[in-house]
Amino acid sequence: MKFGHFDDLRKEYVINTPRTPYPWINYLGNQGFFSLISNTAGGYSFYKDARLRRITRYRYNNVPLDMGGRYFYINDNGTVWNPGWSPVKTELDEYECRHGMGYTIIKGKKNGLKAEVTFFVPQNYDGEVQQVVLTNEGTEAKSFSIFSVAEWCLWDAQDDCTNFQRNFSTGRVEIEGSTIYHVTEYRDRRNHYAFYTVNDEIDGYDTDRDAFLGSIYNGWDNPETVKADKPSNSFADGWSPVASHYKKVTLAPGESKTLIYILGYAENPQDKKFAAEKPANLLTRETWVLNKEKAYAMIDKYNTPEKVAAGLEELRTTWDKLLSIFKVDTPDDKVNRMVNIWNQYQCMVTFNLSRSASYFESGIGRGMGFRDSNQDILGFVHQIPERARERLIDIASTQLSDGGCYHQYQPLTKKGNADIGGDFSDDPLWMILSVAAYIKETGDWGILDANVPFDDDPDGKHTMLEHLDVSFYHIVNNLGPHGLPLAMRADWNDCINLSCFSDTPGESFQTYTNPKFKAEGGYSKVAESAFVAALFTYTGPAYVGILEHLGKADEAAKAQAEIDKMKKNTMESAFDGDWFIRAYDANGEKMGSKECEEGKIFIEPQGFAVMSEIGKDVGADIKTLNSIDKYLNCEFGLVLNNPAYTKYYIQYGEISTYPGGYKENAGIFTHNNAWIICAEAYAGRGDKAFEYYSKIAPAFTEETSDIHKTEPYVYGQMIGGKDAKNFGQGKNSWLTGTAAWNMVAISQYILGVKPEFDGLRVDPSIPAAWDGFTATRQFRGDTYEITIKNPDHVNKGGKTLTVDGAAVDGCIVPVAGDGKTHKVEVVLG
Ligand code: GLC
Ligand code: GLC
Repeated sequence: MKFGHFDDLRKEYVINTPRTPYPWINYLGNQGFFSLISNTAGGYSFYKDARLRRITRYRYNNVPLDMGGRYFYINDNGTVWNPGWSPVKTELDEYECRHGMGYTIIKGKKNGLKAEVTFFVPQNYDGEVQQVVLTNEGTEAKSFSIFSVAEWCLWDAQDDCTNFQRNFSTGRVEIEGSTIYHVTEYRDRRNHYAFYTVNDEIDGYDTDRDAFLGSIYNGWDNPETVKADKPSNSFADGWSPVASHYKKVTLAPGESKTLIYILGYAENPQDKKFAAEKPANLLTRETWVLNKEKAYAMIDKYNTPEKVAAGLEELRTTWDKLLSIFKVDTPDDKVNRMVNIWNQYQCMVTFNLSRSASYFESGIGRGMGFRDSNQDILGFVHQIPERARERLIDIASTQLSDGGCYHQYQPLTKKGNADIGGDFSDDPLWMILSVAAYIKETGDWGILDANVPFDDDPDGKHTMLEHLDVSFYHIVNNLGPHGLPLAMRADWNDCINLSCFSDTPGESFQTYTNPKFKAEGGYSKVAESAFVAALFTYTGPAYVGILEHLGKADEAAKAQAEIDKMKKNTMESAFDGDWFIRAYDANGEKMGSKECEEGKIFIEPQGFAVMSEIGKDVGADIKTLNSIDKYLNCEFGLVLNNPAYTKYYIQYGEISTYPGGYKENAGIFTHNNAWIICAEAYAGRGDKAFEYYSKIAPAFTEETSDIHKTEPYVYGQMIGGKDAKNFGQGKNSWLTGTAAWNMVAISQYILGVKPEFDGLRVDPSIPAAWDGFTATRQFRGDTYEITIKNPDHVNKGGKTLTVDGAAVDGCIVPVAGDGKTHKVEVVLG
């Protein structure tokens, strides 16, 4: 069952009922100011950091779900309704929500009155513009009123939802004309403020939440002021400040009125914090006056429908440009929709926000993840390489000089998070992969010379290349008894905690280490990760390629020898006959092996092992892929492990705490499904690759939205696995490495258009049924118009490759570098 449809022409998902199975959200903003907005206008805004600079309040994990948002209430002669249905939930005569590229349009109609609200964050602007167009579609004149409301968060979202003994007494506001300013703590130790304005005279306002609601026992669905059609003109003093505008409107039949609201954020330099004079119309309780120059300028920028239209046009043009870098036309509309629009859009969001703020991440927990952000770059780098470069340098600067990494960092401070610390065994390798992806995309070898400090040597002169060196050797220098990488606290799978042995409530599996390993440095020197081994052999060649390019032949040979050794060790100690084991635990026992009672096979090491060709000479690759099909494949994707754990295994940690089928315990973790899609394509089995791709790609799950529940236009982190009661149900949508990895899987492995150091590889691995496809790829300043023909209906294998009619050997299109358009044709067979 569906709850809407794709409008590919407008690049929108159109939702036709407010009662979606879960709030279906969108993200507004790309750099500084961000908003989350659901299909009923729920959500919240923040500046850069969802924890430390939260602008509006949200109620997590609450019922009814999705409370807190920017809401408009209409009182039409006693009938009170919201254009987005919530919070009042009066049945609407018509409802529609269009989530587009950086904007959302919500339309509601009731008793002949239509309200269409367009929400967006303009480019290079720290505010959310909300344009409300009210139209009387009836035959008689209509007089009604409209209330806006936004509830301020007192900046630090963590403190805001816990420290009431203090923060019920700190709220402050100022009101000037139609603009309400939020200035809590501004006088003392903040230099930022927020405002909510409307481009017209108002007939009243509220700034105190309880006055707006009329009773502390009322919810947002029942504000007394709205019901009574009478704002209370309250002035907030502590408690919970809000911003609400009241406006009376009369419309003749067919007449429209446009109101433009802006929710903005601004910072003042220390010496310009205060205004010298107090304007006559200013309402304040303070002896000081906020310097509002920046707000005035921001308000001026979007205070007419023409200016709003121009801002929207600029946003559209920006996205059209971003999405023209890579475009495909395949025989499958759903693939086109994912590749050309939604998967790329989601990659921008994950690049911006890592795993910080979604409807499943509160925004107060994790900042940016080291491994997460590095992987996010893989799907984003072609869009805005300059931003990827800056991010790479930021992330690398949190690394330690021995190659270890802080697992997370805060976007505002860009400093490693000491509460979580480091010692996650996979972290350094993702850095090699992402820097290599950046160079392959841009040809900017100069990044290797960029000055990038280490966290433990902030003033030292170090280069990005040194970061890659220490990343590579961090693995080599931390091997266990079988010559495989130590698992340390955890590897990619945060829930396999081989050094933890937790039997005490409240311990964090990921930060707790058993005292028994104290003398050894905090983690077992026996537990080893076969996954990190395979990731090492998969990423290592990129490091070797870099050294070779730099003419460092000896170092390249030395690194290659380590890779070869790791492959040998993996084949000898981690190949279980039909697949690769997952790990050796701290007791030296195999995990993810035929010998195990449960969890006999895991997905994670397999894809990278296959793509590293470990044991390919003895058929290990095909055996492994067949085992995955046999044991992990099910209706809605590939489960992470099988059989699911039904008992608690203290030596494995968190993974065995989940009921079977959820999250890392045999859930369908879509992130690592992509690794198998890549591996199947790599092995030339395009039909299998495509089967797995289409099981999890959102556009394909749209038809089962009632089962899947989360947004049909973006990936979630996981889908309930075959052991789960809620088999097929999606969770943790939006912020997941799945976005980047599936972008890689479809574009670079299935469609086979893959940047390499020395050119653009074109080597598809597609369904045999396809006649071919076309693609446009902008690459290092040139445009490649690619045509793939598949007359013999094979999966993979280039018979011929021509560039502008001239035959080329192999499958790499050399960089033309002339800024022109080139025609590439590949005939499969
Ligand atoms: C989440 C985390 C990621 C981790 C994965 C598996 O997606 O963000 O860092 O690798 O879960 O535990
Ligand atoms: C991790 C991952 C998640 C995992 C959790 C462990 O960082 O996001 O997948 O389940 O944290 O508590």
